[in-house]
Amino acid sequence: MAQGEHATTQNLQFGFTDEQLANRDIPFRPNLFAGQTVVISGGGGGIGRATAWMFGRLGAKVAICGRNIEKLNETLNPMRDAGLAVESYLCNIRRIEDVEALFEAVTGRFGAFDVLVNCAGGQYPQPAIDFTPKGWNAVIETNLTGTWYMMQTAAKRWMAAGRPGSIVNVVAVVDRGMPGVAHTCAARAGVIALSKTVAVEWAPQNIRINCIAPGAIDTEGQKVYSEDSRRRSAQSNPMMRFGDAFDVADAAIYFSGPSGKFVTGETLIVDGGGVLWGEFWVSDKPDYFKVS
Ligand code: ADE
Repeated sequence: MAQGEHATTQNLQFGFTDEQLANRDIPFRPNLFAGQTVVISGGGGGIGRATAWMFGRLGAKVAICGRNIEKLNETLNPMRDAGLAVESYLCNIRRIEDVEALFEAVTGRFGAFDVLVNCAGGQYPQPAIDFTPKGWNAVIETNLTGTWYMMQTAAKRWMAAGRPGSIVNVVAVVDRGMPGVAHTCAARAGVIALSKTVAVEWAPQNIRINCIAPGAIDTEGQKVYSEDSRRRSAQSNPMMRFGDAFDVADAAIYFSGPSGKFVTGETLIVDGGGVLWGEFWVSDKPDYFKVS
C-alpha cells in the first residue's frame, strides 16, 4: 500500500514492511529524542515495532523487550541495518524478576532511560461466561499486572535517580465495554484507572503517565480474526477503515515529547471515531442483537 493510502478490509496489509517503517515521512522534527533512551515492551509486535522505529528515527536509543527472540530480531536487525541505536531484551512482563532484570540491564547499557511505552499485551476472543480461571488470570496478569510491574519498576528507578519520566500505556477502547473480550476490557480499564491515579501520585517527581486506546489497527495481529470479523471492524467505523501502527506511534511521540509536557493521566482514543458510531463484536454477534 502506498503512503497516504488507507487500509480497508480489501487492502489490509497486516503491518508495515521494513521499507515502510524505515521511509515513512515523519511528522515531527528530526532528533526530537536525541540523547534520550526509550524502553518499549512488545517491541516485536506491530504497534511496538512501529513505535520503536519512530523513536529510533527521531534520534532515541531504543530498548525493546518481549518474550519471543525471533520477533524481537525482526525489529532489531532492520533497525540496526538502518543505523539506528537499538538493543533487545527477553522479558516476560508477568514476572517481576524479569522486569527488574530488564531495567537493570537497560540502565547498565544506556546509563538511564527517559520514556517507557507499554505495548506488550494479548487476549483471545471468548464469551465471558466461558472464561476459565486460567484464561482470565493469563489476560489479567499480562495486560494489567505486567503493565503495572513495568510502570512501578520504571518509576522507582526514576525516583531513585531524581529523573523525570514519561510512561505511555497502550490499552484499548473500553468506554462501551468490549463484548467478546471482557477480560482484556477489565484489564485495560484497570490500566487506565491506575494511570490516572499514579499520574497524581507521581506528579511531584515529574513522572507523567498517559494511555493510548487504539481501535482496529492494521497489524499482523488482525490475522487471528476471520475475514468476516475484519470486514465488520472496518464497517463499524465512521471512517470505514482500519488505522495503522503509525497512528498509535505518533500518539506515543506526542505524549512523550515536548508536546505532552503538561499532559498526564489522559487517555487518547485513536480509533477513527469508532467509539462514537458503529458497533463491533470481536466474536460473532449473537442473533439477539441483530437488527434488520
Ligand atoms: N507480549 C505478550 N505477552 C507478553 C509477556 N507476558 N511478556 C512480554 N511481552 C509480552
